[in-house]
Amino acid sequence: METVTLNNGHNMPNIGLGLYLMSDRIECIQAVNAALEAGYRLFDTAQAYHNEEFLGDGLMASDIPREEVFITTKIAVDNFAPHLLVPSFKQSLDNLQADMVDLLLLHFPVTDLRQEAWRALEKIYHSGRAAAIGVSNYTVRHLEELLETADVTPAVNQVELHVYLQQPELLAYCQSHDIAVEAYSPLAHAHGLDQSVLESVARKYGKTPAQIMIRWCLEVGAIPLPKSVNPRRIRENIDVFDFSLDAADMSDLAALDRELHTSWDPTQVA
Ligand code: A2P
Repeated sequence: METVTLNNGHNMPNIGLGLYLMSDRIECIQAVNAALEAGYRLFDTAQAYHNEEFLGDGLMASDIPREEVFITTKIAVDNFAPHLLVPSFKQSLDNLQADMVDLLLLHFPVTDLRQEAWRALEKIYHSGRAAAIGVSNYTVRHLEELLETADVTPAVNQVELHVYLQQPELLAYCQSHDIAVEAYSPLAHAHGLDQSVLESVARKYGKTPAQIMIRWCLEVGAIPLPKSVNPRRIRENIDVFDFSLDAADMSDLAALDRELHTSWDPTQVA
């Protein structure tokens, strides 16, 4: 498994399984199991997904040592208030059957509470219960505000990123500030997989359109977090390290950008 080194020196695998919408316990545990077998070592959950416990069970049931697995969770928007954040994180650790997580994120730039919530995350980071901390769904504006006051620079900004929502300014900003970008919904929730440019690039490499979308994330320097509960697709989605997209492919794929937000759109958040 290839890794990226975060701005605090902690290593993170450069692809992971997104657990968004995995609400069935057995299905989630089976997906975690299939992913571990396929070579995934990064698992991305959140308080709001209500499946931290299933991830914990899935990891406990496997032979892979805990220290080889990178766990991310996120503080839900309802838990940003100071009296709720730390207790909710303790509950997350219990759910995950873990003493610490590798990466803890603020799930969304909640207007009135995000700065205070970041200070709470910094305290958790200094306590050693999160090896790295970061944010999710932050735009450049939210990051600028955060960097003005933060003691700890976020290690990661996890955002919706795919060929239909390419966000070049945000990527450039994060890269210039040494903030790793994780791509959630790299498959745009499976929208547009039958698009003709994707299909023709896929044919060129003997790959699927989904694999081209995931590879595109790697080419722009992001860490893709495709979600699947299907063992065959879980294997397919990590089988993207034996080819790369050339400049002509990237230029063809650049033309697909159309600001498609398939879930949250944080651009209007004050
Ligand atoms: P499933 O879980 O049944 O595999 P995203 O990660 O962009 O949010 O996309 C997740 C959606 O894409 C889910 O509906 C998932 O369904 C589907 N999906 C995941 N991998 C693939 C793939 N390789 N080909 C087609 N659809 C996929």
